[in-house]
Amino acid sequence: MPELKYISGFGNECASEDPRCPGSLPHGQNNPQICPYNLYAEQLSGSAFTCPRSTNKRSWLYRILPSVCHKPFESIDQGYVTHKWDEVDPDPNQLRWKPFEIPKTSQNKVDFVSGLHTLCGAGDIRSNNGLAVHIFLCNSSMENRCFYNSDGDFLIVPQKGKLLIYTEFGKMCVQPNEICVIQRGMRFSIDVFEETRGYILEVYGVHFELPDLGPIGANGLANPRDFLIPVAWYEDRQVQGGYTVINKYQGKLFAAKQAVSPFNVVAWHGNYTPYKYNLENFMVINSVAFDHADPSIFTVLTAKSVRTGVAIADFVIFPPRWGVAEKTFRPPYYHRNCMSEFMGLIRGHYEAKQGGFLPGGGSLHSAMTPHGPDADCFEKASKAKLVPERIADGTMAFMFESSLSLAVTKWGLKTSCCLDENYYKCWEPLKSHFTPNSRNPTGPN
Ligand SMILES: [Fe+2]
Repeated sequence: MPELKYISGFGNECASEDPRCPGSLPHGQNNPQICPYNLYAEQLSGSAFTCPRSTNKRSWLYRILPSVCHKPFESIDQGYVTHKWDEVDPDPNQLRWKPFEIPKTSQNKVDFVSGLHTLCGAGDIRSNNGLAVHIFLCNSSMENRCFYNSDGDFLIVPQKGKLLIYTEFGKMCVQPNEICVIQRGMRFSIDVFEETRGYILEVYGVHFELPDLGPIGANGLANPRDFLIPVAWYEDRQVQGGYTVINKYQGKLFAAKQAVSPFNVVAWHGNYTPYKYNLENFMVINSVAFDHADPSIFTVLTAKSVRTGVAIADFVIFPPRWGVAEKTFRPPYYHRNCMSEFMGLIRGHYEAKQGGFLPGGGSLHSAMTPHGPDADCFEKASKAKLVPERIADGTMAFMFESSLSLAVTKWGLKTSCCLDENYYKCWEPLKSHFTPNSRNPTGPN
C-alpha cells in the first residue's frame, strides 16, 4: 500500500483537492452556480449554525453526486449494537473482561459493522447527551458497504490489526497504538487485513477537544500538530447490485442502497473532518518530586459536558515514561471515584496488575466502586528501592472516563462469555499491616 498523505493540525480550517482534478475547489465562494468540474456542492454541519466561532464546525464537500441519491433506508439486524441501558440489572462490582474473542476467518466473515458489540453506556441519544463503549471484533473488509453515525462521534482504538479507513475526506491508515476520530455523519468504510479487534468510545452530541492546559502552558500532552487529517481522494465507481449505506440513527441500524460509491468527493474544505493521532507522540507530564499528579494529566482528548470541568468522557492513556517520585508509593493509589472508569489495554502489561488484565480485554470500575493495585503489586511497590525507573515500556493502557454512571449490556455481562468472575480475588490477599503501638512504618512483610 503506498504511503498515505495527511494534513497536520487539530481543528484547523483545511482545504484539499484530489490531485487528479486541480482547481476543483471553487474560488472565493462555497456555492457557485456551477462548480468546477461540474461537481455538486454539499455542506456537512457538525455544529449548530449559530455556535460561537470557537466551536463552529462544518465542511464543504464537492462531489460527483450528492449524498441524497439513495433508495429509502430500511431497518436491518441490530446485531449486538444497543442503546438500551436497562437490559440487565445494575452491577456495582469491579468488572474485568478477558480478551474479547475475534470470530475466526475460517468460520464466518464478519466486517467492522457486523462486528460491533456494545459493552456499556449511559445517557440518551435523542437528547444528545451520553456515551457508549463498543468493542469491534472482525475478520473481513467492508465490501461495498459504508457506515455513518447520526448519533455521535466514534473515537476508534485499534488493538489488533491495522485499519485502512476510506472516508469522504480521503483515506487513513490507523495501526494499533494510533487512534482516530470519525465524527457524526461522516461516511466511512474499513478494510482489515487479519483477525482484528479494538475499542470504540462513542459520545453523543458533543465533539472531542484537546484539554485545556492551565498552568502547563502552551505546549504539552497531545500537541495539535500531531493530529493528522486525510487528503481528498475520490473514486467514480458504479456498483453492480448497489452500494449499501448503513446508518446508526437513534441507536438503531438502517441500510439504504445507492448506485455509486459514496467516496466521490473530489475536493473539500472546512474544519469538520476525521483525524488520527499516534499515541507515541503524547508528551507525558508527571511528578518529579513526590506523590502523584491526578490521572487527568494523561488526557489526550475530552468530550465536555455543559458543566464546567466535567467531561461526558475523557480519553486518557498511560504511556511509557520515567517514574522518579521519591518517598512515594508509585503505582496508582487506592481510590473511589465519582466518575466511571472503563480501561483497555492495547499492548503489554498494566503497571497495577501484572496478570489478568490482558491486551484486548477490559475493566470497568463504576462510580464510587473501590479499586487499586492488587496485593502482589502493593507488596512489591511498598518495598521497592525508589530509583528512577522506566514504567510501562512496551505497554499502552488507556481509560475512557465518564461522569455518567455506565450500564453494562447483556452482551457485556453474559453473551460475550468474557467476564472474569474471579476479578475480586486479586484484592483478597491484602492484609492489615497496622502497628498500633509504633508509628514507625516498617513496610509489609
Ligand atoms: Fe481508577
